[in-house]
Amino acid sequence: MKILVTGGLGFIGSHTCVELLDNDYEVVIVDNLSNSNIDVLDKIKKITGKQVQFYQEDVCNYMAIDEIFKENKIDAVIHFAGYKAVGESVEKPIMYYENNLVSTLNLCKAMQKYNCKKLVFSSSATVYGSPKELPIKEDFALQTTNPYGTTKLMNEMILEDIYKSDPDFSIIVLRYFNPIGSHSSGLIGENPKGIPNNLMPYIVRVASGELECLNVFGSDYDTKDGTGVRDYIHVVDLANGHIKAIEKTFKDKGIHYYNLGTGNGYSVLEIIKTFEEVNNLKINYKIVERRPGDIAACYADPAKALEELNWEAKLGIEEMCRDSYNYILNSNKE
Ligand code: UD1
Repeated sequence: MKILVTGGLGFIGSHTCVELLDNDYEVVIVDNLSNSNIDVLDKIKKITGKQVQFYQEDVCNYMAIDEIFKENKIDAVIHFAGYKAVGESVEKPIMYYENNLVSTLNLCKAMQKYNCKKLVFSSSATVYGSPKELPIKEDFALQTTNPYGTTKLMNEMILEDIYKSDPDFSIIVLRYFNPIGSHSSGLIGENPKGIPNNLMPYIVRVASGELECLNVFGSDYDTKDGTGVRDYIHVVDLANGHIKAIEKTFKDKGIHYYNLGTGNGYSVLEIIKTFEEVNNLKINYKIVERRPGDIAACYADPAKALEELNWEAKLGIEEMCRDSYNYILNSNKE
């Protein structure tokens, strides 16, 4: 089976390609390298010992996508490609809507034309906005607070309409909680360009001495220790969720939505403490004001994914903290 992976050199995309290859799928990657590095391609080949076909193209260029479908018999698609920085999306909404929506429309247009109707879409827990209750279930009300989140929600709505108009489609929407960690080889991982926005990439740069001090955004939330609580999930577990989702697209038609999280919430201070313990170091941090737009707590009810996809997260917070740092140590050695 040949799977087209858009954004396959990114953080979650690259880990998913490794798991696909390990499960004997053939992989075709399309990535425009706007937020990824070409070296990742060789790393994927090194980890798996398998070949991958690569197109350096933009999914927003319809002709390029059409050509890929013409040249390959694609059986299913996993669509990761997209912009993902919340703050940037507030500053540049047109760029976000254009990129994140046109790419999906192009892909679906080509899929329909070439009769490839199995799609796994990369969504986010951000579509739940500020949930009224915890843990979050898939049927909770959806609402967004920034253009990035809105592009995810709009993509979900587009896919729903495509399925209604063409019930031959089999679409799985995966709503990720907070992916961290890296492959056990230490060869691929998360390496955002510039100063990181997210917690774990920031912590690892403080640990490696590249940044001086972590700002903890708020200690007066209504949570166990006052700091924000999130459902961190190991990226390898997340990648495996995509294998289960692809398997389901080959079995059933329809459109289905799944939370991919562990169901456990950890506070910022718990993450710092665990990171310090497993890596045997100290993280310099200080408490500062809340970050605008942040919610107190967010964690998944992952029961539906277990029941319908037979998937559950296996790796714990210790492995996540160890592997996140291991990747940075390894890449700084190169
Ligand atoms: C953020 C995005 C979310 C996106 C997700 C992708 C915002 C408001 N939300 O989620 O839309 O889907 O990333 O992974 O940007 N924290 C600090 N100091 C830091 C960074 C973070 O204390 O330097 C805290 C935050 O306040 C939060 C927790 O760490 O409580 C996790 O933050 P982060 O990693 O940015 O993820 P989210 O805010 O959950």
